[in-house]
Amino acid sequence: MSIIEKAASRIDRQRSAATAVPAGPAEAGVAHAVLADSPAVAEAVIHEAVVQDKVIHEPAHAIPAAPAALAIGNEQPATPKFTTRRVELDLARMRELGMVTAAGGRTPLLEDFRIIKRPLLQRAFGERSPTGKPGNLIMVTSSLPGEGKTYTAINLAMSIAMELDHTVLLVDADVARPSVLRTLGLPNQRGLMDILVDDKLDMADVMLRTNVDTLSILPAGTSTARATELLASSTMTNLVNEIANRYPDRVVIFDSPPLLLTSESRELASHMGQIVMVVEAQTTTQHAVKEALSQIEGFNNVNLIYNKTRDLPGIEETYDYHYG
Ligand SMILES: Nc1ncnc2c1ncn2[C@@H]1O[C@H](COP(=O)(O)OP(=O)(O)OP(=O)(O)O)[C@@H](O)[C@H]1O
Ligand SMILES: [Mg+2]
Repeated sequence: MSIIEKAASRIDRQRSAATAVPAGPAEAGVAHAVLADSPAVAEAVIHEAVVQDKVIHEPAHAIPAAPAALAIGNEQPATPKFTTRRVELDLARMRELGMVTAAGGRTPLLEDFRIIKRPLLQRAFGERSPTGKPGNLIMVTSSLPGEGKTYTAINLAMSIAMELDHTVLLVDADVARPSVLRTLGLPNQRGLMDILVDDKLDMADVMLRTNVDTLSILPAGTSTARATELLASSTMTNLVNEIANRYPDRVVIFDSPPLLLTSESRELASHMGQIVMVVEAQTTTQHAVKEALSQIEGFNNVNLIYNKTRDLPGIEETYDYHYG
């Protein structure tokens, strides 16, 4: 029995034991996607899926001090009002790096993300309780650094951008160590933090349109030591509501810091309708994942992605997924 099958049967057992947990939407035909409905059930997946005692990432170091303010001030006009800028994504380079692109053909990664995005999209535009957070706000996080959050966020964004009915905004919310633009081969720009600090700036001033028409990017912007407070501020709440509601067909993917190293991810999670937690195969420990899940306890839409699995012949690294 594979780890995924073991996890699935454990979830079934937990489901019948925990009547408070509603059954998730059926995923018939999806061979290795597993639905979990709460952090508690997600833990069952972890119990089966994650190595128990191999510690590779140890949160020994705090995040390094925030880099000095980005040297972008000179590039901007004195008056901050200007139309939305456009950047060119180097799609050939992205393909070479193994990322999802429209012209990249039917790769295993593309297929993985087809499966990963489907339940996320269902929830993104499903019915929402009056107190519920907007389902189209999806945060990608993990326990510790390097597990594949940015890679997953970009691929998920590209994959959803390829859908006919949706547009995507990819937000770099890893404000202490932004890497979306760097990973895409683009220079730093103003972004989220600048909007939160400067009330004269708004989204349109810093958002980047791309040569993928359905994909825009909101960079992390200028680093600040007040990041956690800013993410917890009412300005952030207003901004997030605006982002969620202005374009009803838009999916917003937030690349985020790891849950166990900073408090920023927890603040971000409080705004989100869905959380995708990346678990690195053979690396993330069960303890780390449990700790991370406890940070977002009470949050029901937690989706686990088991990243960098190597169990398919001929495939270097891939994903398995667990939805909740
Ligand atoms: N499924 C995958 N297949 C191949 N390479 C991957 C995969 N997932 C992640 N990587 C690679 O692993 C490295 C770390 O990934 P990434 O930067 O996305 O991690 P992260 O969780 O965002 O890290 P940080 O916490 O530092 O922001 C990168 O070099 C990325 O290209
Ligand atoms: Mg990252």
